[in-house]
Amino acid sequence: MTYIVLENFSDTIHQELTTIWNDQTWDRVVEAKPGHYLHYCLSPKHEMVKKFPYADTVQFYWNKPGSETGPHLDRGRWAAINIPIDVDHDNSAFVIGKEFHLKNYRRKTYLDKHGANPYTHKVPSESGPTGFYYEDQHMFDHYNLEKPVLFCTKVPHGYTNINSTQHRVLCSVTFKKTWNEIIHLIPQDWY
Ligand SMILES: [Fe+2]
Repeated sequence: MTYIVLENFSDTIHQELTTIWNDQTWDRVVEAKPGHYLHYCLSPKHEMVKKFPYADTVQFYWNKPGSETGPHLDRGRWAAINIPIDVDHDNSAFVIGKEFHLKNYRRKTYLDKHGANPYTHKVPSESGPTGFYYEDQHMFDHYNLEKPVLFCTKVPHGYTNINSTQHRVLCSVTFKKTWNEIIHLIPQDWY
C-alpha cells in the first residue's frame, strides 16, 4: 500500500482546520497554477503545525470545479497527509499509484522540458525524484477522500475533480522525513 487512510483522525484537529479555512487568514498564497490550483499557507510557526509531529508545513489546497492534475511526484517533500476540508466525495478522487518503484510507470518526458511543467511555482529544493506520468488505469487506485490519507509523495499521484461542479479544498501537511518514518511518528490512534 502506498497510502493509508486515517480512519480515526482527530475530530478536534479536523474541526480546527475547517475553522482556519473559514477564517481565510494566511501567511502567504501561492498560485501554483493560476486560476486552477492555489496554495494557502500557514506560517511554519503556526500552532497547528505542532499538532502534526515532524511536520514541516501545513497548507490548504484549492482546486477549481472541473479541474484535475495528472500523476506526478512532489518536489520538496517525501510524505504528506491530505485532509478533506470541502470535497465533493461523489464526483472527485485522490489518485495514487499502487507501486513504490517507478520502473513500471510511464513517464511524460515531454513535460521535463523547460517551460512545459504545468506547475509554475518555485520550490527551495526538489528532494529526490520528480516528474509527470501517464495514468495507466491498472497502475492506479482512486480514493474519494472521505477520510484523511497519509501517502508517499514520491509515488505518482494526482486528483480528479473533472466531473464536479464544486471546488475542492483540502489541507495538506508536508513532511521531509520519508513515508516509512512518518508511518511510525504520527499519533498511532489516527489509524
Ligand atoms: Fe502532489
